[in-house]
Amino acid sequence: MRGKLIAFEGIDGTGKSTQLKLLATFLRQRGQLVLETKEPTDGPVGQQIRALFHNRKSLSLDEELELFIEDRRMHVLQHILPALEQGAFVLTDRYYYSTAAYQGARGADPELIFEKNQFAPVPDLVLLFTMSCDESVRRIEQFRGEKLNDFEQKDHLSKVASLFASFSDPAIVHVDAARSLEVVRQDVVSIVCDRFDL
Ligand code: TYD
Repeated sequence: MRGKLIAFEGIDGTGKSTQLKLLATFLRQRGQLVLETKEPTDGPVGQQIRALFHNRKSLSLDEELELFIEDRRMHVLQHILPALEQGAFVLTDRYYYSTAAYQGARGADPELIFEKNQFAPVPDLVLLFTMSCDESVRRIEQFRGEKLNDFEQKDHLSKVASLFASFSDPAIVHVDAARSLEVVRQDVVSIVCDRFDL
């Protein structure tokens, strides 16, 4: 039996990582096998990407794009496909829509980015967490106590948000992330239960 692939997408600060963990807990309580995973990964290329977070201009757009795609290639082969073959729910914090939106916002053609990602399995569901950029930046700075990294500058984030909003993939469901954690959690659970007959 093939498992199900669910991608959590959206701009930074929307709470998607927290919601991913909450959904994983719910699914495990229902007796499902779950893999929680993320991109950039903790693998060698993912680590290289994280090291660039604060010095992004050292890379050309093409080099940056290739790194994200290479990281994904390993992620798919080593983690996502084996878990799907075992019948697991694979919950990934970011997937190729992030590349289309973030590297798209830097100037790459989103359609070309989707083409370059054709090796990656199409998700069964994409939860796209939406929120205003102002609120997202406020949350990143206040709750995480962090300054924005080079991927998170506000004018860049607003381009990223418009690109995310422009994707018309049938797998995408929008989730209003400006509501309380618990309300969003219930929404996510009900979307997933409906979609997969749980
Ligand atoms: P993020 O999920 O914020 O990681 P963490 O919470 O562990 O810091 O992702 C890191 C950044 O990487 C985020 O700002 C978006 C960016 N990113 C891309 O630019 N392209 C991609 O393909 C992916 C997967 C992420």
